[in-house]
Amino acid sequence: MKGYHAFHDPALEGVMYSSEEIAEIVARLGSQITADYQGRDLALVTVLRGGFVFIADLCRAIDLPLTLDFLAISAYGDGGGAVRITKDLDDSIAGRDVLVVEDIIDTGLTLNYLLGVLRQRRPASIAVCALFDKDVRRIADLAIDYVGTRIPDRFVVGYGMDLGGRYRNLPFLATLHDGVMG
Ligand code: IMP
Ligand code: MG
Repeated sequence: MKGYHAFHDPALEGVMYSSEEIAEIVARLGSQITADYQGRDLALVTVLRGGFVFIADLCRAIDLPLTLDFLAISAYGDGGGAVRITKDLDDSIAGRDVLVVEDIIDTGLTLNYLLGVLRQRRPASIAVCALFDKDVRRIADLAIDYVGTRIPDRFVVGYGMDLGGRYRNLPFLATLHDGVMG
């Protein structure tokens, strides 16, 4: 395989959000967070792997001192949203103003579980910033403090999000043709 020309990948159906549209959304979120976290002790916490592209852009859109930390989880697959932390945060969040940064929220079960775990560590505050919100699928009763944009109930890839590990490097958010997911 020589190059990879995303627009010629037959599995991709179309672009839901272009990289320019995503950049505008990220800039707006960054401004809101900058205004809201003045004088606080901001700790950005991101869930790997999907959140890595978003956090890279978002942290540069926030004009405040902050720290970055990462955790990785794997679902038990029982449908209840319980997750195992496969890579924990490196630093304590006790007394910090934690902002959990997520690429996409679907049922909300994963995040709901994760917030329960993080709250036990006694942060001063905890809030959530999600770039994409598939809110029609929401099961967990969650308040999301910063939402980039609502999206319809479609499986999407790109801008960090994957199918079987691929497509994370697409600079835009794309939909897949029906049937690709098997
Ligand atoms: P939830 O527990 O149903 O909210 O699932 C959330 C997680 O599932 C997200 O953090 C993503 O990692 C993954 N996910 C949900 N929807 C999509 C999608 O459309 N494309 C890629 N990953 C997704
Ligand atoms: Mg995720």
